[in-house]
Amino acid sequence: MKVLVVGNGGREHALAWKLLQSNKIEQVVCVPGNGGTATMERCQNLPLAVDDFEGISQFALKNTISLVVVGPEVPLANGITDYLQNQGLMVFGPVKAGAQIEASKAWAKALMQEAGVPTAKAAVFTEAAAAKSYVRAEETPIVVKADGLAAGKGVTVAQTIQEAETAIDAIFQGQFGSAGNFVVIEECLLGQEISVLALTDGLTIRPLLPAQDHKRIGEGDTGENTGGMGAYSPTPIATPELMARVQTEVLDRTLTALRNRGIDYRGILYAGLMVAPDGEFQVLEFNCRFGDPETQVILPLLETPLEDLMLACIQQRLEKMPPIAWKPGSAATVVASSGGYPGDYEKGQVITGIEEAEATGATVFHAGTKLNTTEQIVTDGGRVLNVTGLGEDFQQAIAQAYAGIKNIQFSGMYYRRDIGHRVLKTDL
Ligand code: AMP
Ligand code: GLY
Repeated sequence: MKVLVVGNGGREHALAWKLLQSNKIEQVVCVPGNGGTATMERCQNLPLAVDDFEGISQFALKNTISLVVVGPEVPLANGITDYLQNQGLMVFGPVKAGAQIEASKAWAKALMQEAGVPTAKAAVFTEAAAAKSYVRAEETPIVVKADGLAAGKGVTVAQTIQEAETAIDAIFQGQFGSAGNFVVIEECLLGQEISVLALTDGLTIRPLLPAQDHKRIGEGDTGENTGGMGAYSPTPIATPELMARVQTEVLDRTLTALRNRGIDYRGILYAGLMVAPDGEFQVLEFNCRFGDPETQVILPLLETPLEDLMLACIQQRLEKMPPIAWKPGSAATVVASSGGYPGDYEKGQVITGIEEAEATGATVFHAGTKLNTTEQIVTDGGRVLNVTGLGEDFQQAIAQAYAGIKNIQFSGMYYRRDIGHRVLKTDL
């Protein structure tokens, strides 16, 4: 099989890496890919934009691509799956109608309320004055969200009414473009966030190992929100009892509600949950894709060939598949980012030490990197590399990730020293 992976992050490098472990996969083409996918054996990059549906389709048809795997939410929300399927291609990722579950928080909230999925109390507004008067009548902290896709930047957890009002104004004044046509105001939930990614073929839905990421830039989970600075799996707070409840109260109910709306949702359904100290949980958000960096810790633990699971989803035969098999032990990943991220940062810094990092046993997934004209790997984004470690337990997995990352250098490089602090007794 030849597989085409759409996207250029650490998630897509991990997807390509995992697919290439199967002897059924002859080649992976990444569109547009990064420095890691450019240099991996049997993998190549194709310099097309992720929204060039026609270009991707023409290439896939001409090169007998058997499976297209879509990483990011933006092309899914714009209907890449519908387009490519109409050309006769096999695509892993939901159709446009299904991707609304991530692309519109108001739509997802209505679906959850209708389906009886536990979620925070919320209200939706189309203009600032009504949103502000609602906020004034509520308690702080309160959460203000732009409705649409905003690259993870559309959510403000406001500590004061003033902060909430500023966030409302920013959204309605167009800071997030059409993503800000609606504002969702939500009760603030406390606890630990977990990510449950599930595979579905529209009829059956099965969770992957639960993961936890570190969203904040600073140690001790402080500072600005980022795309994710590290992750680990399987997270111990997602006990078998909790996962059984997530299956019935979140995954099954959501899939039924999607079907009731006439949506045949096949691909990944990712539930972001807040687990309160008393063990109760609520859904914060749904994503229509693999998480990043969660994928970089989930896939290294996956034993079942990934393409078998993806094809079973596309061909609606997930129920007949044997249970998903996992390697024992734990995985952890530490993200190396460009100085200044999540604010402004420089690109083009030469990266050294990747081979040395891998020689320690760690796996290095590239995110914002590229090969420059002199064949050097240079930085090309905010989150640059993910160094993943595996071990019998979290202690070992995290130690391997840190032993690996210590070899890597580039100007301005930053990483958190406390990834996994919740599952370790002491920080590294
Ligand atoms: P979302 O894109 O809706 O997941 O929001 C991004 C991040 O904002 C989440 O991962 C949480 O850290 C935070 N967040 C979102 N909704 C809430 C909420 N209701 N209470 C507390 N934090 C939230
Ligand atoms: N790590 C969070 C996300 O992928 O949305």
